[in-house]
Amino acid sequence: MKSVYIRGNASLYGEVTIQGSKNAALPIMAAALLVPGVCVLRNCPRIADVEHMCRILENIGCRVDRVEREIRIDAAQLTESRLPKKYVTRMRSSVMLMGPLLGRLGEVSLSHPGGCVIGDRPIDLHVKALSRMGVACQDDGEELTAVSCGLRGTTLRLDYPSVGATENVIMAAVAADGVTCLENCAQEPEIGWLCDFLVHCGASIVQKGPGRLLIRGQGGLHPCIYTIPSDRIVAGTYLCACLAAGGEALLKGAPCGENDALEKAARQMGAGLKRTQDGLWVRRAGPLLAPGKIETGSFPAFPTDLQSPLLVAMAQAEGESSLRETVFNGRFGVVEELNRMGAGIEVEKDTARVPGGRRLSGKRVRASELRGGAALVIAGLCAEGETLVENRSYVDRGYEDICRDLRFLGACVQDG
Ligand code: EPZ
Repeated sequence: MKSVYIRGNASLYGEVTIQGSKNAALPIMAAALLVPGVCVLRNCPRIADVEHMCRILENIGCRVDRVEREIRIDAAQLTESRLPKKYVTRMRSSVMLMGPLLGRLGEVSLSHPGGCVIGDRPIDLHVKALSRMGVACQDDGEELTAVSCGLRGTTLRLDYPSVGATENVIMAAVAADGVTCLENCAQEPEIGWLCDFLVHCGASIVQKGPGRLLIRGQGGLHPCIYTIPSDRIVAGTYLCACLAAGGEALLKGAPCGENDALEKAARQMGAGLKRTQDGLWVRRAGPLLAPGKIETGSFPAFPTDLQSPLLVAMAQAEGESSLRETVFNGRFGVVEELNRMGAGIEVEKDTARVPGGRRLSGKRVRASELRGGAALVIAGLCAEGETLVENRSYVDRGYEDICRDLRFLGACVQDG
């Protein structure tokens, strides 16, 4: 298994261009199924999950051509409604193909995406919402089959602002007959980008207030050329790296207004942030201060995907702080490895208590999921001595090349 070798105890200085967004690209690739023609997606990140999505689209009849970061998806002829098991079980986000396939073919089958190390990943909210739109779902415990004799627009309120369920409903509603009013939907920026892509294809989607969307199903979508926005979680990861290791970095193309909760915490911890036309300047030269209580939640609250990277900075900050994880029930898995490096974090139920003031020491550690793996790399940057992060493939699911990017910031990291 590939790994990342890091020589630590060095501040960061440099500039790095932020890649295209994984969590915007994946739903937009799924939404391209709604368009019986060729959509061209630019600035697609070169990451494992996007490759997996390309394979799934090919498996169901799309012609997919990729040149560097440009992906052409020809969804004119869809031939298969059963999603390939080997990809569905590896990539949770394949569940968001339900909406578009029900819209195009009136049926879809997929094995359960299952849970993962960050917690339970049920799809009950997806099934409940689609059932309200004229979909009959049958689940034999192994495989879920959904069929529809025609999607119907309706008014529905999600029990929880699930990102994936919101995306599925939006795509189904675009293909449905009638108007859908969706309430308590997720407000993550990726929802806005998905709607923006669909509107570029001719869909009628209007925001009627925070967490409220009005979608007029009308079919007749036309192909478009669309540029994937930059990845707020990758930008936030590198902001946490600069915060934790100290130094100065320009995050070129970092999205504006998508990381306000993290930027507020970073300022509380002693970072200086400055928005320029090139992106976001981050500088942490003085002491690293404890941020007090941090709590994750759905947007605009602090993002769950950045809690592990921030924990590394909190562990070294002067003073005690805490982080409460309210989105996934298993997202503190990385703490065990961070504590082997000396982080001294105590987890009780959904809260991590971080005493702070710790000096990390380099160790051979193991990634077990995407964002926790990125946090271990950041810990290696700050630690005394050398760190080897194994199972780097988890990190490659969401980061094009974390070693390349951190080398741009002056870090001493190598592909192990
Ligand atoms: C998306 O996952 C992101 N993935 C995740 O990013 C992100 O952490 C998450 O949203 C929250 O922001 C992609 O966009 C590809 P949810 P998703 O449905 O859609 C529960 C990363 O690191 N839930 O909003 O799966 C669920 O168990 C990844 O890039 C149900 O109970 O997240 C969780 O506790 C990790 N029933 C909570 O809602 C359902 O039917 C949030 O899940 C669906 C979800």
